[in-house]
Amino acid sequence: MNPSVSVRVWDLPTRVFHWLLALSVLVAYVTGGERGTSFVIHVGAGHLILLLLLFRLVWGFIGSPHSRFGDFIFSARSIWNYVKGLARFRAGHFVGHNPLGGLMVLALLLLLLVIVGTGLSAAAARGYQAGSPLIAAMGSGSRAMGDLHETLGNLIIILAGIHVAAVLGHWLLARENLVRSMITGRKQLVPGTETKERPLASPARAGAVAVLVVLGALAVFSRFDAATLMTRPERPASEASDSANPSVADDSGDEPGETAD
Ligand code: HEM
Ligand code: HEM
Repeated sequence: MNPSVSVRVWDLPTRVFHWLLALSVLVAYVTGGERGTSFVIHVGAGHLILLLLLFRLVWGFIGSPHSRFGDFIFSARSIWNYVKGLARFRAGHFVGHNPLGGLMVLALLLLLLVIVGTGLSAAAARGYQAGSPLIAAMGSGSRAMGDLHETLGNLIIILAGIHVAAVLGHWLLARENLVRSMITGRKQLVPGTETKERPLASPARAGAVAVLVVLGALAVFSRFDAATLMTRPERPASEASDSANPSVADDSGDEPGETAD
């Protein structure tokens, strides 16, 4: 096989999705916690992440061949065989995600979904319902979700670190520059990779999904109230019915109604 063959593998929506996701996860991480303006950015980044995840869910079914879940969800046996090959420095080459990479992709996406859910619930428990319809949808939320949210928020950074290390390790050991592929969309194949190029999703389909994502963003962000998120609510809904119970009182030490910045 000609080692210089290059094929189109990642369509534009997948690449834009990836870099926006990476950026918003980093922004959400550094702004984590309930601190005025940075909390607004934190919750905003979290909402963007949810939109990106919804896009990816849809794209996993109707996107380009290598962006589809069916292309990178492998059987446990295939994953195990890949790991065994890796241990002997003889892992196979894949045009799309390899079996272990596909597992990591799923783990990252699912973990982010749980992080957003627990974050929304924690925000609802702190009385930020007026800040966003998604927080309001959580009802009175759950304070316990705040601790879980924080733990998982740290875990995603560890997983993302392993993800980046794997990508760089692959570059060094297998001589495949996956980062360039995630930027240009093209992959330079190494000998032993299946070469058949499959057509990407049509621009019309990508455009239609992009319009839906923008409409979703407008629907969510037009009802996003930064002023509410900036100010610690006077009487969190979760505490309204429990005000006699000191175990659920605000543990921040701040006075109710105080600006959180
Ligand atoms: C918080 C940060 C990050 C997250 C959450 C993340 C998440 C993901 C996800 C979900 C995918 C699958 C793409 C898809 O099929 O839709 C992916 C693939 C990929 N990511 Fe990241 N990523 C992060 C940071 C990075 C960084 C900093 C780099 C560059 C060094 C990188 C390089 C790649 C590459 C090269 C792929 C394709 C891997 C392959 O060819 O199988 N990622 N990432
Ligand atoms: C809509 C989405 C999100 C909402 C509403 C949200 C809300 C919150 C709230 C209310 C807290 C304070 C929790 C507490 O003290 O009990 C918090 C903390 C935190 N969040 Fe989020 N969050 C969201 C998304 C994310 C994402 C995607 C990440 C992942 C990087 C993340 C990482 C963290 C971390 C690490 C903390 C703890 C920060 C600290 O106190 O040091 N959050 N978030």
